[in-house]
Amino acid sequence: MNNVKAVILAAGRGTRMRSDLPKVMHTVGSSTMLGKVIGSLKDAGIKDIVAVIGHGADLVKSVFKDEVQFVEQKELFGSGDAARSAVDTLGDFDGNVLVTCGDTPLVTSETYKKLVHAREEASASCALLTCKVDDPFSYGRIVRDAAGDVLKIVEENSAGRDEKLIREINVGTYCFNGRDLRKHLKSIAINEKKKEFYLTDIVGILNTDGARVVAEFCAAEEMIGVNSRKDLAKVNSVLNEKTILRLMESGVTVIDPANTHIDENVEIGKDTVIFPHTVIEGDVKIGPNCKIGPFARIRPGSTISGNVEIGNFVEISRTTIGEGSRVKHHTYLGDAILGRKVNIGAGTITANYDGKQKHRTVIKDEAFIGVGAKLVAPIEIGKGARVGAGSVVTRDKNVPDGATVAGVPARLFEKKTKS
Ligand code: UD1
Ligand code: CA
Repeated sequence: MNNVKAVILAAGRGTRMRSDLPKVMHTVGSSTMLGKVIGSLKDAGIKDIVAVIGHGADLVKSVFKDEVQFVEQKELFGSGDAARSAVDTLGDFDGNVLVTCGDTPLVTSETYKKLVHAREEASASCALLTCKVDDPFSYGRIVRDAAGDVLKIVEENSAGRDEKLIREINVGTYCFNGRDLRKHLKSIAINEKKKEFYLTDIVGILNTDGARVVAEFCAAEEMIGVNSRKDLAKVNSVLNEKTILRLMESGVTVIDPANTHIDENVEIGKDTVIFPHTVIEGDVKIGPNCKIGPFARIRPGSTISGNVEIGNFVEISRTTIGEGSRVKHHTYLGDAILGRKVNIGAGTITANYDGKQKHRTVIKDEAFIGVGAKLVAPIEIGKGARVGAGSVVTRDKNVPDGATVAGVPARLFEKKTKS
């Protein structure tokens, strides 16, 4: 998208979160609220992004310094004041200025694009993103005239009785013409009740000035603005539902979607079954025809081939598992590489961390690890090798292909030869 600059309003205190963390740094999926907003703007093809920051500015800057420009809002006098802080960075830019909030992480890149097109098509001063919801409480309401044209936005605390009944709400995302935005931001007066400048007042101001304002609808699942922990849980649950739906549509069985958490970038092959209470995080890839869970946790950096079984109370972290392997009960595998058809007995633990560094465990094709074994990394278990139940295989005592080891510490099991 050419001729578009974006401004993210992200300076707010987030008082209702009751948190030491700046609101926009709270986790959404495998990212943060602000990370999601930046990601969607970039996916829409917008390169020029300014984030207005204030509360917790140092942390926000340190995390996103390579991704966007920053403007600091000195004192937090509301969304109108935040937008004013950013306009200087726009110079005399006369194209599309997409203004969005750092706390509406579910607005998609498609919607951002649609909003820009809506403004361009209507040659309007402003295209406003709105949504019809069942419970409009706390959102700005969209007031239209008898002809259906947008007149103004009224905030919850200024809305009259009839206005409170309006179910069309302001999502907090707007596409302005740069010149008109600069000109009319100056006219926003302070809201005496809250001692804040409301960006939303600009819609009424534009109308009074005879400028054109149009509205574009978005899906209800995109509009949630996060002001509280309750909203945050809602956003994460919407995102989870969306991911699980995508996976189900591509041929994955998820037995109990409400009790399964899967991050949005996870890839899963068809006919794999995910049992309840499973958590799959980050950039995990899982092949076809696997059985995962119940109560499994697959963490970032893990790749699982097809026909693999991962059962209850198994944690897999930064681990690769080959075709047809089985890890069925009470196991931790960290920084491990498993070959094909490996069998991991119940309660096997890789001791991958020595307090300073993480080390690798390699378990080759068709190896058999007995119940309750501890594998102290770095360690390599050879092809077709067997580790006896309860053994502790100590670091660097690699087990050769086809060998059997057992005991604490594990020793090579010598077959008795006839004398
Ligand atoms: C705002 C809108 C409301 C809309 C809702 C959508 C206003 C006045 N109201 O309400 O119409 O329905 O979002 O979620 O804009 N911010 C700053 N600096 C400030 C104050 C706020 O950068 O001084 C940022 C916040 O970080 C936030 C955004 O502006 O990202 C909106 O502020 P917030 O206080 O969350 O407004 P809402 O009450 O949610
Ligand atoms: Ca908000």
